[in-house]
Amino acid sequence: MKCHICGEKASVNMREHKLALCKEHYLEWVPAQVERSIKKYGLFRQEEKMLVAVSGGKDSLSLWDILQRLGYHADGLYICLGIDEGIGYSTESQRLAVKFATNHGLNLHVVNIQSEYGATIPQITRRTHRGRIKPCSICGLVKRHVMNRIARDLDYDVLATGHNLDDEAAVLFGNTLSWSGEYLLRQGPLLPGSAGLARKVKPLCRLYEREMLAYALLQEIEYIYEECPYSIGSTSIYYKELLNRLENERPGAKLSFYLAFLEARKTGLFTEREKIQAELHSCSRCGQPTSAPGLCSFCRLLERTTSVALNERNT
Ligand code: AMP
Ligand code: FES
Ligand code: ZN
Ligand code: ZN
Repeated sequence: MKCHICGEKASVNMREHKLALCKEHYLEWVPAQVERSIKKYGLFRQEEKMLVAVSGGKDSLSLWDILQRLGYHADGLYICLGIDEGIGYSTESQRLAVKFATNHGLNLHVVNIQSEYGATIPQITRRTHRGRIKPCSICGLVKRHVMNRIARDLDYDVLATGHNLDDEAAVLFGNTLSWSGEYLLRQGPLLPGSAGLARKVKPLCRLYEREMLAYALLQEIEYIYEECPYSIGSTSIYYKELLNRLENERPGAKLSFYLAFLEARKTGLFTEREKIQAELHSCSRCGQPTSAPGLCSFCRLLERTTSVALNERNT
C-alpha cells in the first residue's frame, strides 16, 4: 500500500476514509483533523486559557502533543486516583504524564485524591458501598468534580479531554439503547460552560481509537499501555467490541453513527426537550452546579466517606 500523497510506503491504512498515508503525512494529517474539529464545532480560540486533562494514556497525551503542535497553549491536569491493583496503575500513569510535561516544557497540575480528600478511589468505594460496586462510577464523579474545580479555581476558559470516536460512539450507543434523553441532549464535542462550570471540549471526537494509537506510536509518545484495571468487563468495553464488529464489516459505520447523531440534533431532533431542560442549582458547600438544591452528589459522597472513616476509627 502506498501513501496517497507522496507515493512512498504507507504506514497507516484507514479503510474508514479510503486513505493510506506514510509516517510523515500521517503525522500531519492527524493534527489537521483536530484543527478541523476545533473550527467546525467552535471549541476554543487561540487566545483562550486551556486545561487538558491527561490520564497518562495515549489519547490525552497525544491530544496535548497535537494542541502544542497546532500552536495552542494548554496546561495539563493529572488526577492521581490511588489505583494500584498490583500494577501500580496510578503511580505509573502519573510518572508518564509528568515525564511528558517535563520533556515538552509544559505546566502540569497534579491533584492527589488521597491527600486532598483523605481516601483513594478504591477506599472511597469500599467505605461508601462496602465494595459491592466497581469504583468506576465513583471515579467518574470524582474526576468530573476535580476537573471542574481546578478549571474554575484557576480561571481556565476551557477544559479538554482525550475522548476519541470509539469512546463517544460507545457512550452514544449506550444512551441510545436506553433512550436517555438528558444525556443525548448533552453529549457532543462541546458542552458550553455555565456559572461555576468550565466549557468542556473533546477535540479528538472524530478520530478512531486505532488512529490515535497509530499517532502515539509514530510520534513516539510514551504512554501507559494498561487500561484501568477496573475497566475490565465493563459495559463500555462491551459496546466498543460490538461497534468494532460493525465497523469491520462496514468501514466508517462508527463515524457516521456519531456524525449523523450530531447532525440530527443540530437540525432539531431534541428541540422539545431543550425547552424543558431542568434548572440547575448551586451546591451549598462547593458551589458547583447540581440538579437538586442542597449538596451535590460529590459533596454527599465525601460526607459519607468521612463519616464511615470516623466510625471505623471509633470502633
Ligand atoms: P476515561 O474516562 O478513562 O476514558 O478518560 C477519558 C478522558 O478523561 C481522558 O482522555 C483524559 O482526558 C481524562 N482523564 C481520565 N483519567 C484522568 C486522570 N486520572 N487525570 C486527568 N484526566 C483524566
Ligand atoms: Fe477510574 Fe478506572 S479510571 S475506576
Ligand atoms: Zn506520504
Ligand atoms: Zn458540592
